[in-house]
Amino acid sequence: MVMRSVIVGCGSYLPARIVTNDELARTVDTSDEWITQRTGIRSRHIAAEGEKTSDLALKAAQAALAHGGVAVDEVDLIVLATATPDQTFPATAAKVQAALGMTRGAAFDVQAVCSGFIYALSVADNFIKAGQARTVLVIGAETFSRILDWTDRTTCVLFGDGAGAVVLRAEEGQGTSEDRGILSTHLHSDGRHHDLLYVDGGPSSTQTVGHVRMAGQEVFKHAVVNLAEVVGEALAANGLTPGDLDWLVPHQANRRIIESTGRKLKLDPSRVVMTVDHHGNTSAASIPLALCEAVTDGRIQRGELVLLEAMGGGFTWGAALVRF
Ligand SMILES: CC(C)(COP(=O)(O)OP(=O)(O)OC[C@H]1O[C@@H](n2cnc3c(N)ncnc32)[C@H](O)[C@@H]1OP(=O)(O)O)[C@@H](O)C(=O)NCCC(=O)NCCS
Repeated sequence: MVMRSVIVGCGSYLPARIVTNDELARTVDTSDEWITQRTGIRSRHIAAEGEKTSDLALKAAQAALAHGGVAVDEVDLIVLATATPDQTFPATAAKVQAALGMTRGAAFDVQAVCSGFIYALSVADNFIKAGQARTVLVIGAETFSRILDWTDRTTCVLFGDGAGAVVLRAEEGQGTSEDRGILSTHLHSDGRHHDLLYVDGGPSSTQTVGHVRMAGQEVFKHAVVNLAEVVGEALAANGLTPGDLDWLVPHQANRRIIESTGRKLKLDPSRVVMTVDHHGNTSAASIPLALCEAVTDGRIQRGELVLLEAMGGGFTWGAALVRF
């Protein structure tokens, strides 16, 4: 017998305002054609003035709890992944905890940028396996629009705002890949690549928030290699092959990176969940947003094998294999 973290509910929230490529092309030197061809992005959601990461996270969390039929007072822990917290401190997770009316348990943030949701899921899974929590809310939420340099066309066209959440619940499994729940998680980082993707500000360095800076082509090259490696690692750890997979739910940064991973796994494109076209890169929110979309529209069914993967600043990267 082993303890498994089963996804019993998922929910998401996107700000109302949709910004198309054409709209961006009015303020920066870019075009719908360039953005679509290079990234697959056609539009993204942008948070309203005053709408904060915790506001998006709260709505996604409430939706996930409702979907799972889980009451707030059952939740032992909130793990929230974000690189765009409301404030330097306290953790955005604690603000969500208060807004949910949750007065017990613990809440904290995890910072692994675009890999944040995989990191948060891994942390939550380990709390459940260790017997320290039975019901955990895992949230990925971002207002990346607030840390973009809107005059830098090489970055500002790529990102969007949003939030997604899942509710994990401890259930006993047999310890085989037939179990429902998280089968394994695999985390990596390599801090030597700091300069390829970072924010040029922070409390201890500049006392400002800063803006995203990225060497896009370099990040792209690392992403395809690291992601191929970590998905292989996740499958091997469970004695599975790509042919066993029902779905790939990747971090949504760039259509070409996603397609590259899908091709390496020899997955039919219809088995790869793609939301980058209408979400852009929502960093830690992108995987739960994509997962939730495919669960809500009926594509992902209970019992199916789902591979999640992401790569982000740090560099950080990781994967999780989940039987839904
Ligand atoms: C950012 C990215 C889309 C750029 O695509 P690319 O094919 O590598 O393009 P390049 O950076 O080589 O730029 C090609 C040209 O387009 C120009 N360009 C860059 N952004 C542009 C934009 N928004 N609109 C129009 N032209 C643009 C560049 O200035 C360059 O022009 P030049 O050839 O005259 O110098 C791509 O590298 C990428 O997606 N990288 C990974 C990013 C990522 O996933 N980040 C998040 C990880 S979590």
